[in-house]
Amino acid sequence: MKTQLSLTVNGEERDVLVAVHKTLLEVLREDLGLTGTKHGCELGECGACTVLVDGEPVLSCLTLPVECQGREITTVEGLAEGGRLHPLQQAFAELGAAQCGYCTPGMLLSARALLDGHPVPTRDEVREALAGNLCRCTGYSKILDAVELAGLRMRRGGQPERRESPARAMVEGRA
Ligand code: FES
Ligand code: FES
Repeated sequence: MKTQLSLTVNGEERDVLVAVHKTLLEVLREDLGLTGTKHGCELGECGACTVLVDGEPVLSCLTLPVECQGREITTVEGLAEGGRLHPLQQAFAELGAAQCGYCTPGMLLSARALLDGHPVPTRDEVREALAGNLCRCTGYSKILDAVELAGLRMRRGGQPERRESPARAMVEGRA
């Protein structure tokens, strides 16, 4: 059985006919082709599937897409603007805060929600905001450093980055 949905994803209206049992994670990846959002535990434990709904982090593996109609969904594909990485993506790439990159999209979106609401977070606030996002390979120090650096740059107006690199692919969810 299928249902027609109208979703706003990264500022675009998307109409899709989807199986009623599908989660938001599955609809984003399988029906809308937005594979930057990663598929991890599907149990609400790893945070790899984090997206923003009306600016708040949600676990898309536990979210029904019908609940998101009329709301703004942001995925990692919506972070960069006009070819310019978001300051968080830039800082993650520069500081080596993404190794395999699998956790990175979820990390970036949790961090974006934090910095949008708290432009000058303490280290503990950054740690708390990312507590639901697990990383198995980078270690957390560089990730926390990157969020703090991005916050600093955002207060100064951000920094553009146009070069292609392996790190860029990871922070855009293409790795
Ligand atoms: S895939 Fe959603 S929390 Fe792990
Ligand atoms: S960079 Fe590999 S899981 Fe975090």
